[in-house]
Amino acid sequence: MSSLRIEGGRRLSGSVVVSGAKNSALKLMAASLLAQGRTLLTNVPRIADVFTMIDVVSHVGANVDFVGNVMAIDVPAELRSEAPYELVHRMRASVNVLGPLLARQGHARVAMPGGCNIGSRPIDLHEEALGRMGVSFHFDHGYLEGVAPTLNGRRIALEYPSRGATENVLTAATLARGRTVIDNAAREPDIVDLARFLNQMGAKVTGAGTPTIEIEGVGWLAPATYRVPSDPIEAGSLALAALATRGEVELIGAMPHEIEVFLAKLSASGAQWWATPAGVVVSIARRPTAVDFATLPYPGFPTDLQAQMIAYLCTAEGTSIVTENLFESRFAHLAELGRMGADLRVEGHQAVVRGVPRLEGAPVLAHDLRGGVALIIAALGAEGVSEVHDIHHVERGYEDLPGKLRALGAEVDASGWGDAAMPGSPWGREEQESPWGREEVNVPEAPSYHPR
Ligand code: EPZ
Repeated sequence: MSSLRIEGGRRLSGSVVVSGAKNSALKLMAASLLAQGRTLLTNVPRIADVFTMIDVVSHVGANVDFVGNVMAIDVPAELRSEAPYELVHRMRASVNVLGPLLARQGHARVAMPGGCNIGSRPIDLHEEALGRMGVSFHFDHGYLEGVAPTLNGRRIALEYPSRGATENVLTAATLARGRTVIDNAAREPDIVDLARFLNQMGAKVTGAGTPTIEIEGVGWLAPATYRVPSDPIEAGSLALAALATRGEVELIGAMPHEIEVFLAKLSASGAQWWATPAGVVVSIARRPTAVDFATLPYPGFPTDLQAQMIAYLCTAEGTSIVTENLFESRFAHLAELGRMGADLRVEGHQAVVRGVPRLEGAPVLAHDLRGGVALIIAALGAEGVSEVHDIHHVERGYEDLPGKLRALGAEVDASGWGDAAMPGSPWGREEQESPWGREEVNVPEAPSYHPR
């Protein structure tokens, strides 16, 4: 079982470089399939989910070179149009190849992502929106199969500003016939970056970052070069690690406007933050004050920082009420924090966090990516030693987190980190163990990326 051993109580200080954004890199990799030729992505984080997405784009026929944080994706003229269960099950973002495959091939067969540890996570909004553009879908043994002889531009009002649905419609619409308008579109920073990348490829996208995005379909797209922006969620996570130890840390690459509501909540808790030419500094010298917050789509408080913020507020003065509006079961970390002496309870989709003076180190279990990093944050501020188990959840989204924390003064034994992150890519084997029995598959060239 992969785990991190943390000796808490050491104050973090200094500067740390925030890595490229996971939730941007994955979408840019999927969107690269829209153009035959070599796309170059820089500042790509070396995290497990990126290696999984390499397996996905390799499975459909691309060839990937990944050295350091630079990735070259060579996309062929013809693609395979299937994202298999084994990969989609490992990472929901595999569904983001739906739009590009439909746009390029007029056909896509994607395993239904199923639920994960934070909720059911259906893709009905993706299906409904793409269906309006002319895709006919049917279910086939756990796979969603879509066929679209032609994709037509349409006005699409999303019932909910789903990031994934916005991204799949956006990518599909770039090569559709005519104009597409997405109303009630997601507004996250990675949507803006995806639109910028698509426009560099020759697409005609306007309005990204607002609730209404317009796309004028074009005949074809060319490969492009793009730098993955800094990860706002990693920046927030590292900020909370610093504050949980009553420290002061500069987050190099962090962009205040991308985490504005989050920073406002830090100020309300008694922490200080200020912008520097390189990023953002956060600082606190005393116990924080309890604050209430509710997660909402961007620009609201990000659900991906909910668990980490709760870990920080466990030792606040007063009681915080936290409302999780996006996912139905994203409080698994509360029971583990309780094992460290936190006083908290779940009431429906709210968590009631009654602050205690100090947490105690303990063995705890990560259940998901952000809940896992919340436990690390709690362990850093706790008195004594903690073991955070199943750390592979955290390796999905954080590059060299132990190294970054140690550089800031934390006492972290990272012997368990990194071994589980390397994906045993299933596409390197002669036969693929499918959930429905052994089946011969045509094994494409194993991705030629260079493991860490
Ligand atoms: C993205 O997931 C992120 N993942 C998630 O980050 C993030 O928590 C989520 O957006 C919300 O901000 C990536 O970008 C790879 P949604 P996505 O479509 O696109 C429901 C992390 O920790 N919904 O905006 O799947 C859905 O069930 C991960 O980095 C439908 O009901 O999010 C959820 O409750 C975790 N039907 C809500 O909407 C649909 O067709 C938000 O989903 C689609 C979504």
